[in-house]
Amino acid sequence: MSRKKIALIGAGNIGGELAALIARKELGDVVLFDIPDKEGVAKGKALDLEQNGAVLGYDAKITGTSNWDDCAGADVVIITAGVPRKPGMSRDDLLSINLKIIRNVGENLKTKCPNAFVIVISNPLDAMVYELKKVTGFARERVVGMAGVLDAGRFQLFLAREAGVAVKDVRAMVLGGHGDTMVPVTSYCTIYGVPVTQTIAAEKLQAIVERTRNGGGEIVKLMGTSAFYAPASAAVVMAESFLKDQKRMVPAAAYLDGEYGYKDLYMGVPVVIGAKGVERVVNISLTGDEKAMLDKSATAVRELIEASKKL
Ligand code: APR
Repeated sequence: MSRKKIALIGAGNIGGELAALIARKELGDVVLFDIPDKEGVAKGKALDLEQNGAVLGYDAKITGTSNWDDCAGADVVIITAGVPRKPGMSRDDLLSINLKIIRNVGENLKTKCPNAFVIVISNPLDAMVYELKKVTGFARERVVGMAGVLDAGRFQLFLAREAGVAVKDVRAMVLGGHGDTMVPVTSYCTIYGVPVTQTIAAEKLQAIVERTRNGGGEIVKLMGTSAFYAPASAAVVMAESFLKDQKRMVPAAAYLDGEYGYKDLYMGVPVVIGAKGVERVVNISLTGDEKAMLDKSATAVRELIEASKKL
């Protein structure tokens, strides 16, 4: 089997951490791409990480570049290109800046990486991933947005801390847009199969839901830029599931064509990721309250997509 090629578009905080994780896991060779102004950063991180491989003993070729030709034929593309949120800035404020960037990336992917499985991380996520699919014309199976694995991870951490149990025994489901309207679905959150509603009081649970919704903002406020360790790990979970045909079921922003009653929209839903990409959107039943929250979230995402069309 030939070595896999993973192109990381954006060599900033998340891009660098993605490269480090992918190399350590030996998922394939890595191309760290950025704009010409940041080519030195891309090349420097690549060299540092190759030297890290010499120390730790992993085997991966890591290339820093600003030349799209170096990304040609990638099996997986992970996009973080864009500007991150500054304190006080909402994800939606980023829309006009990052839209131009994602369009440029999409045009290049169309010709250089026509067969790649593409994971979008750039914010505002749901609008960015929608735009990328539109610009590239790629099949819905091959364009997905990373948000749910991260948001669910945050939710799981807060639940585990509250319940005083190991975080790996907590499973949580988060649906909807990656924003303030995201829907942490408490009815599907369990500690090793035991519903959290049996162990965590309702008002504590509500506070955790709120903290999860603001999980990204909490970190931006602390360090002046967006989180990068957990976002990178979350995208690697998805990339690995594709590369190894693991069929992980994870929440992710998927293109909806009637599922959950929504059409022509990207939003967070449970999906199965395998060798064909997003192989399936999994339908789960929701309570009336949860569906109402999801509708609200879908409306917010649709507004963002409509706003994108005018820009
Ligand atoms: N092509 C490639 N890279 C680009 C382009 C472009 N057209 N435009 C900008 N970039 C690069 C920037 O030069 C920068 O190095 O994208 C990189 C983004 O890195 P950071 O600023 O460190 O941002 P990061 O924390 O990695 O977050 C990236 O993910 O979570 C989201 O909100 C976050 O949208 C942001 C993205």
